[in-house]
Amino acid sequence: MSSERNLRVGVIGLGAGRGHVLRYKDHPRADVVAVADANAALLDERAEVLGVALRYTDPLEMLRKEKLDIVSVATPNKFHYPLTLAALEAGCHVLCEKPIALNASEGRQMVAAAKRAQKRLMVNFSFRFTDQSWALKQQVEAGVLGDVYFGRTVWHRRRGLPKFGGWFGQKELSGGGALIDLGVHRLDLALWLMGHPRPVYAMAGTYNHIAAQKVRRENELFDVEDLAAGTVRFDNGALLVVEASWAANRSRSRNT
Ligand SMILES: NC(=O)c1ccc[n+]([C@@H]2O[C@H](COP(=O)([O-])OP(=O)(O)OC[C@H]3O[C@@H](n4cnc5c(N)ncnc54)[C@H](O)[C@@H]3O)[C@@H](O)[C@H]2O)c1
Repeated sequence: MSSERNLRVGVIGLGAGRGHVLRYKDHPRADVVAVADANAALLDERAEVLGVALRYTDPLEMLRKEKLDIVSVATPNKFHYPLTLAALEAGCHVLCEKPIALNASEGRQMVAAAKRAQKRLMVNFSFRFTDQSWALKQQVEAGVLGDVYFGRTVWHRRRGLPKFGGWFGQKELSGGGALIDLGVHRLDLALWLMGHPRPVYAMAGTYNHIAAQKVRRENELFDVEDLAAGTVRFDNGALLVVEASWAANRSRSRNT
């Protein structure tokens, strides 16, 4: 048996963050010692079920007090940037939920901060770890598909606006709609499979016709797109078409 001590893990945000706690608990060298969530009632209820004793409504207090090795950031997108920077400053490796941040500038600063701190920063692009993705990546690397010069990747929900009236539909908190929420997974996977060629230009459009009808009926704040589609051209001549929607007038949802 290794004499190395177990790693002290903290998880911030207990929506999707619940899954992080459970997966860390499966790992023999990780101990989830503390969790943080700004919602005190939800924090207590979920931490109780998850069996985590140390609970904080202020994640910065958790970072100051707990001397953590690893922190998961699973809050609404707006807080990925400040909480990741704070966790890196506190000497932690960070697993941040997707999308990395509200925009590319914040994302670049997070990557630079991780390099400065000599800590790992990983974004939870969970689809890279499915059996299908691994099988496809192996086929690409073995040259079975030859030169991959065209890709098309879509994630369409027929009707699936997430938590209508909540932060997902508010640009200030989310940074955007279906593209930054669903399309970002697809874009990441396609770029990984295509070997990360350098994009030279893109053409795209965003729409919110279906959500706008719901906004009129329910009078909730929703100022992001419900559908985005675009094409990226790369320096090696390859082309990628990306489509993502939370709501689209089609016969069924599709995720490929
Ligand atoms: N990788 C995936 O497939 C996947 C799946 C679902 C969600 N996500 C991502 O996870 C993140 C959270 O999404 P969600 O669906 O869990 O949202 P959610 O609203 O269900 O949960 C977010 C939690 O964070 C808490 N919170 C908000 N601000 C906070 C702050 N400043 N400090 C501490 N806690 C705070 C809220 O109280 C809430 O409990 C998003 O970035 C989303 O894109 C990723």
